Amino acid sequence: MRLAGRTVIVSGAGGGGIGTTCARGLLEAGATVVGVDRDADRLTAIEAELADAAGVGGPAGTLVTVCADISTAEGIATVVERAAAAPGDLYGLVNVVGGSLLPHWAPALDFDRAQWEQSLDLNLHHVMFLSQGVARHLVERGLPGSIVTINSTGGVVAAPYHVGYGTAKAAVLGLTRTLSLEWGRYGIRVNGVAAGSITTPRATATGQDPTLAGRGVPLRRRGTPADVAAAVLFLISDLAAYTTGAVVPVEGGALNRLGLFDDENVPIHVTNPQILARIHGEAG
Ligand SMILES: NC(=O)c1ccc[n+]([C@@H]2O[C@H](COP(=O)([O-])OP(=O)(O)OC[C@H]3O[C@@H](n4cnc5c(N)ncnc54)[C@H](O)[C@@H]3O)[C@@H](O)[C@H]2O)c1
Repeated sequence: MRLAGRTVIVSGAGGGGIGTTCARGLLEAGATVVGVDRDADRLTAIEAELADAAGVGGPAGTLVTVCADISTAEGIATVVERAAAAPGDLYGLVNVVGGSLLPHWAPALDFDRAQWEQSLDLNLHHVMFLSQGVARHLVERGLPGSIVTINSTGGVVAAPYHVGYGTAKAAVLGLTRTLSLEWGRYGIRVNGVAAGSITTPRATATGQDPTLAGRGVPLRRRGTPADVAAAVLFLISDLAAYTTGAVVPVEGGALNRLGLFDDENVPIHVTNPQILARIHGEAG
C-alpha cells in the first residue's frame, strides 16, 4: 500500500487514540498527513510522538498539523485550505472527531436539549461539512478521493442510555452511504468503520474498564487503535478501489451475536435440559 504524493486529512488526530494511530499508519504508507485538532497542546504532543514516522527520509510521509475547530465553517475552510497547500494532491479524509462525553451517558427520559445538541455537534455535523469541503475541492479539480468515517457499533445497533451518541453515529452511517452514492461518479469513495469497544485514553478516562477484556466479544479481547487504523488504511488506499458505501466492522465479531445468547453462546431463553446438555458438551 503506497500513499506517496497523496494528502490525507485526519480530523481529531491529537486524541492519542484512533486519530493519532491512523495518522501514524498513513505516514508510514508515505502520505502527507494533515493532522487536525482544536487542542494545540495535543498537536504539539503528536508532532513529537509521530516524529519517528514522519519526515525521516525513506518512504515516510510528512506531517502537517492544523489547529482548527471543525464545528465552525471557518475551521473547515482553514483545514481544506491548509491541506490544499500541503505537498501532494489532496486525496483523502479520515473523520475521527467524535465520541461520547460523560454527560452524554444518561437515560433518554432525562436527556436535555443541550446534551442532544452537543452529541450531534461532536459526532455528526462536521462529518458532513468537512467531507463536503474536501469533495468540493476534488470535484473542482477532477481529482479522485477517498473519505472514511469512524463510526461505532452503537450506530449500527442501538446504544441504550447513550441516545445522543447512538443516534448521531446512526446518522453518520446514513450520511456515509448517501455521499457514496452521490460522489461515486466523481471517483470519490466514501466508507465507514464500525468500531467496537476500543481501548483509547478517552475511553479509559470516561470509565470503560480496559481490564474487562472482550466481554460480549467473540474474539475475547477489546480492540486497539491499531485494529481500527488497519481498516482505515485499507479503505483509504487503492486496495479498496472498488469499495464504496461500505461499513467495515472492527469489533471482534460482537455485532454477530443475537442478544439471546450469552458470551459462551448458550441461549438464555432455552431451558430444555437436553439442548443445554448438548451445548455444554460442546462448550466443555
Ligand atoms: N474509543 C472507543 O471505544 C470508540 C469506539 C467506537 C468508535 N469510536 C470513535 O472513534 C473516534 C475517536 O475516538 P477516540 O477515543 O480516539 O477520540 P478522542 O476523544 O481521544 O480524540 C478526538 C480528538 O478530537 C478533537 N476534537 C474534538 N472536537 C473537535 C473539533 N470540533 N475540532 C477539532 N478537533 C476536535 C479532540 O481534541 C480530540 O483530540 C470517535 O469518533 C469515536 O466516536 C471510539
